This record gives sequence, C-alpha cells and structure tokens, in this order.
Amino acid sequence: MHLADQTALITGASSGLGAAFARELAARGAHLILVARSRDKLEALAARLRAADRVRVDVLPADLTRPDAVTRLGAQVDALGRGVDILINDAGFGTYGDVIAADPVRLHDQVQLNVAALLDLTRTYLPGMTARGRGVIINVASLSAFQPMPHMAVYAATKAFVLSFTEALWTETRPSGVRVLALCPGPTATPFHAATGSEDGSFGKHRTPEQVVATALRALDRDVPSVVDGRFNAFNSRLSGLLPRRLTLAIVERAMRPSHPHVRRDPAQH
Ligand SMILES: NC(=O)c1ccc[n+]([C@@H]2O[C@H](COP(=O)([O-])OP(=O)(O)OC[C@H]3O[C@@H](n4cnc5c(N)ncnc54)[C@H](OP(=O)(O)O)[C@@H]3O)[C@@H](O)[C@H]2O)c1
Repeated sequence: MHLADQTALITGASSGLGAAFARELAARGAHLILVARSRDKLEALAARLRAADRVRVDVLPADLTRPDAVTRLGAQVDALGRGVDILINDAGFGTYGDVIAADPVRLHDQVQLNVAALLDLTRTYLPGMTARGRGVIINVASLSAFQPMPHMAVYAATKAFVLSFTEALWTETRPSGVRVLALCPGPTATPFHAATGSEDGSFGKHRTPEQVVATALRALDRDVPSVVDGRFNAFNSRLSGLLPRRLTLAIVERAMRPSHPHVRRDPAQH
C-alpha cells in the first residue's frame, strides 16, 4: 500500500506497537499525528522521526479515557489544518484480576479507552475517508478477542468488541474504497504485560512489535477484515472457535489462574 505523503493519526504512539507503527509509517514517507498521554515520549519519538525521515510529525497529548477527549482531539487536528488519511486505533490497556476485586474506575477506563475512544475516532474520520474514496483504519484488537478470558474478563470483552465491530465495518465500507482492518496480536514484547499487573499465561516466544506491524501492513494489501499476527497465534485463534465453549473457558481459566507458573500476581500494580 502506498503510504508516502499520507497523514496517519496513531493513538498509543508513545510505546510498544503504536511507536513501532509510527517508525514504520514514517520510514515509508507518511506524515504523523502522535497521540498518547506521555508528552515527553511522544516529543522524543517525533524529534527522531523528523530528523530520520523528513516527515511532518505533530504531537497531541491526550488522555483518551476522558469522555470529551475525542471531541477535543478532533478540534486540535482541525486546528493543525490536517486531514487524516490513516487512523491507527492502538491505545489500550488491560488489568489482571477478578472483576469482584478490581477497581471499578480502572474497569470503566478500559472500556472507555479500548472501546469508546476507538469507536469515536472511527466515527470521526470515516466520513472524510469515505468522501475521498480512500483511507485506512486499523483497529488493534487481540488474540484475547476470540474467547472470554477469566481473570482478565473486561480486557478480553473489550477486544471482542473491537474485532466484531471492525469486521462488521469492513463489510459496510468495502464499496467505499476505505480499507478497514482488525489487527489481532498475540503476546508481544511491549510494556503492556507489566502494566496489567501480571505476566500473560501464554507459552512460547513473544513476537516483536515490528513483526506485528509488518503483519498488519501486509494484510492491508489483501482483502481481509482481520489478521492474527504469527502462525502459532493464528492456529490458536481458530482452535478456540472449534472447541466447546466450556472447554475453552476451562483451558483459559487454568492458563490465567493466579497460581499458574506463567502468571505473576502483583496486587500493588492492579
Ligand atoms: N503487547 C501485547 O502482548 C498485546 C497483545 C494483543 C493486543 N495488544 C494491544 O496492542 C495495543 C498496544 O499495546 P502495547 O502492547 O503496545 O502496550 P503499551 O506499550 O503499554 O502501549 C499502550 C499505549 O497506549 C497508550 N495509552 C494508555 N492509556 C492511555 C490513555 N488513557 N489515553 C491515551 N493513550 C493511552 C500508552 O501511552 P501513555 O501511557 O503515554 O498514555 C501507550 O502508548 C493495545 O490496544 C493492546 O491491548 C497488545
């Protein structure tokens, strides 16, 4: 896909997958609008990319859990005089632990960021893309989207929303020329897992953010509504659709259980 001189708005660009998207898109000549809460990290990344790739990079720090955040962000983008050709809804977080013990505000923030902000940004920029007859929206879901996840129930449910919503949107937008994709990474080496308050319960090597971004950009050239990064993860995603639901729940519960050797429980970080 031709990305040079397109403008990409990337949420979650201060770290992990979002930063990897920013580096790869800038290397391909795209101009960027970087969004996350950490102004310092965004500014540092922007400075590196401007110098290395000679692209325009604007930084718009925002806390996307705030209900008015997307409206404010949209006004700031307009004030920059920039349209958005590529939207990458990457910002997201999860919390580990049972619902009954969780901080209700953190649960609500997860829904606000992973679901509501992604929906609002999509709804903000889709009409312009449709009118121009081109554009790209990549919504970052997860391998967690394919089955419920005891001990990380809200996170998996938000990602199930992202996958379901994005695949439906892919169908709605197909005739328009806008390319919509749900990206489903499995375990990937980013600060994500430390922030949840647990190691993930998965086996095998973590993928790199660069591998995940390459998977997404390759998938844009194919007419697919979603892509799972990595062959092992793709196999797992298909398996959970084949097994009886109760068996899947039991397997996932065991893998995610606090006593499981792969799971480190650290209540201080919940
Ligand atoms: N790593 C994995 O194994 C994995 C697997 C499947 C899916 N994913 C998904 O991939 C996406 C990126 O995660 P990652 O792995 O790259 O983790 P990460 O390094 O922790 O990145 C999360 C990003 O979201 C931003 N963010 C968090 N809260 C925010 C808020 N309230 N407002 C605005 N931005 C906020 C963070 O920036 P600030 O802290 O500066 O705000 C950061 O840039 C997430 O949607 C995650 O669910 C990750």
